[in-house]
Amino acid sequence: MSRITIAIDGFSSTGKSTIAKQLAKHLGYVYVDSGAMYRAVTYFAMQHGFISNNHFDLNGLISKLNDVNISFKFNETLGFAEVYLNGINIEKEIRTLEVSGYVSRVAAVPQVRTQMVRQQKKLGAQKGVVMDGRDIGTVVFPNAELKLFMTASAKTRALRRYNELLERGDAVSYEAVLKNVEERDFIDSNRKDSPLVKAVDAIEIDNSNLSIEEQFDKILSLYNEVVSNNSL
Ligand code: CDP
Repeated sequence: MSRITIAIDGFSSTGKSTIAKQLAKHLGYVYVDSGAMYRAVTYFAMQHGFISNNHFDLNGLISKLNDVNISFKFNETLGFAEVYLNGINIEKEIRTLEVSGYVSRVAAVPQVRTQMVRQQKKLGAQKGVVMDGRDIGTVVFPNAELKLFMTASAKTRALRRYNELLERGDAVSYEAVLKNVEERDFIDSNRKDSPLVKAVDAIEIDNSNLSIEEQFDKILSLYNEVVSNNSL
């Protein structure tokens, strides 16, 4: 059966990575979390003092971008690929609210995007890939055969992310998470370079009232439709 490219975009905490991982596992596809790459650059910037206390040394970060080496390594136990920065596993470190607080500003920098998009295109060059993010169906893979655009209310999304962070043992408040979700939605949708917009040919899925299983079944049938149309 022919392998396709699946692009999943949408607002923060809409469950993109949950469905992307499920699809990749079910189809034997590669899953790439493009947001993890922007988070890795943000973590690098924090480690190197380019970001601190709301100060952002943009030129400092740009001058060191060539030292940012991001890779993914499949973790058999977890069933997905974890992100590495210069050979070190940073999967846990990049999920904090602190990184979330800066990531959208870093992701708005054109030089950062150019470098990440180049790498993302390479990762998906062989097809058989599910990639999630903000500009996958519009910029990274405009020819993807299946494009999804995920939405849910900000409150539902913040609650999901809040529970995730609590489960990891992070002491955060629901209000702080909601504020971050809303702030990132705003920056991501309003930046000049590759803003978050629904691709004209993307299928919008509002999963506010869908269980994980219902969502998976719905999207799998969309996939089957695309693949059967493709092989006609
Ligand atoms: O998991 P969540 O939906 O909260 O975010 P993420 O996918 O980990 O992405 C983190 C941030 O990276 C987003 O808020 C965007 O600012 C940025 N991003 C982007 O600009 N382009 C992408 N393709 C993916 C993420």
